[in-house]
Amino acid sequence: MKKGMIKATRPFERVVHWCLALSCFLLCITGMSTMYHSLNFIGAVIGGMANLRMLHHYGGLFFGASLLVAIGIFWKDAGRFSSKEDWPWIKEAGGFLWHVDDIPEVGKYNPGQKMFFWVVALGGAAMLASGLIMWFPLSFSKQLVRTMYVVHSLGFLIIFAFIFVHLYLVTIGAPGSAPAMFTGWVTRGWMKKQHPKWLKEMEENGTLEVYGGKGSNKISSS
Ligand code: HEM
Repeated sequence: MKKGMIKATRPFERVVHWCLALSCFLLCITGMSTMYHSLNFIGAVIGGMANLRMLHHYGGLFFGASLLVAIGIFWKDAGRFSSKEDWPWIKEAGGFLWHVDDIPEVGKYNPGQKMFFWVVALGGAAMLASGLIMWFPLSFSKQLVRTMYVVHSLGFLIIFAFIFVHLYLVTIGAPGSAPAMFTGWVTRGWMKKQHPKWLKEMEENGTLEVYGGKGSNKISSS
């Protein structure tokens, strides 16, 4: 770890993010393998389609639990839009689509990230509810079960598309982001560019954690 790096995420936050992300990937793969004949071979690899479905069902429960905890963690900073702070950023598309000299400063998460949070929260809840109804079809009316198949498929398409946008943004779109979810430490330059207001807030209230100094984990605002 280089001296001067800044702590951006707590271990619990990272564990929850990865539980959510990995279970989501597992569900996408097992779900697509159930849906498309050409991907049925994935079932064969793990001992048959019955195993694949079981993995999808219990993976779904794990995803649901991770989603609830993730909503609890991200809600405070990503769940609420503020027109005063977020609207100027939205008008400039955060500088992602055309050149902007001064990107309006926002809090810990920008409106794009907040939108992704809502897609994951609402889309994930719809996938969980529709999946549970599809799992126990005999407990519900035929019409409801049929509708849930449509909800589940549409929800998948939306979440799947947004995951690629998220992956693009945390790699090519905003280089230096990924370490926030791997080690938790980011550079000051990244922090200044991606979360300037959050950086200032932490500096002002003395909660900024900078790597280096006497201890390996010195709390300092310098
Ligand atoms: C290899 C895959 C992934 C990587 C490397 C990754 C990385 C990251 C990073 C670096 C952040 C923090 C961004 C920042 O502070 O500026 C983040 C936030 C987040 N990630 Fe991921 N992520 C991945 C997959 C996923 C998946 C599959 C989901 C959801 C199903 C997800 C949900 C979230 C949410 C809800 C946040 C917080 C709000 C936001 O930034 O939009 N991530 N991720």
